[in-house]
Amino acid sequence: MTQDELKQAVARAAIAYVVENEIIGVGTGSTANFFIDELAKIKDKIKGTVASSEATAARLRGHGIDVLDLNDVAEIAVYIDGADEIDNSGAMIKGGGAALTREKIVASVSKQFVCIADGSKLVDVMGKFPLPVEVIPMARASVARELAKLGGTPKLRLKAGTDEAFVTDNGGNILDVAGLSITDPKALEARINQIVGVIAVGLFAVSGANVCLLGTAEGVKTLKF
Ligand code: A5P
Repeated sequence: MTQDELKQAVARAAIAYVVENEIIGVGTGSTANFFIDELAKIKDKIKGTVASSEATAARLRGHGIDVLDLNDVAEIAVYIDGADEIDNSGAMIKGGGAALTREKIVASVSKQFVCIADGSKLVDVMGKFPLPVEVIPMARASVARELAKLGGTPKLRLKAGTDEAFVTDNGGNILDVAGLSITDPKALEARINQIVGVIAVGLFAVSGANVCLLGTAEGVKTLKF
């Protein structure tokens, strides 16, 4: 099976977690895109969605799925999204697609987080995938210095094919921090959140996944945390 087929399989399996007549939180990235295409098939059964990025909102609307403003929503039944890495406690690195801040906001108001990922994303210790940290642009150098003190090597994410800083949906920049060995994800998340100038860190440990649907050659495995 190709990686895309594994992603498609978990996207299909995630439909079982969609709660009828409720609002669904929708993540960002290639796996989430497969999920959106599956969700479109049952769009009349849900009350609407909250999107974690402009790209996701555009794809949802393209399928004729309602996208609601989070400020008009009191509760989200379930949040479904991919991950860049996930460990055996359900903690994740996210933000490879630069949507980490909105993903964290939508996840935080959702009753359940269902992570959908191909098997390559499950790791014993996170950190091989550089940890994305969204920052206020004027603080990118000062935050980078603080992140280096934690043992990582921060690198400013650039717009593809240019030497200009990548700008997020929120007007922030992203520092991708390589070289971390994340043995205590909750402690590191709390520590990075304290750095002045950080908008959000792509470490989802305090509010990690409740369920992970993992695509493997033997089928979709369900991990519960
Ligand atoms: C987006 O900002 C990310 O958090 C994605 O959820 C994550 O990068 C997984 O993306 P893929 O599904 O494309 O691997």
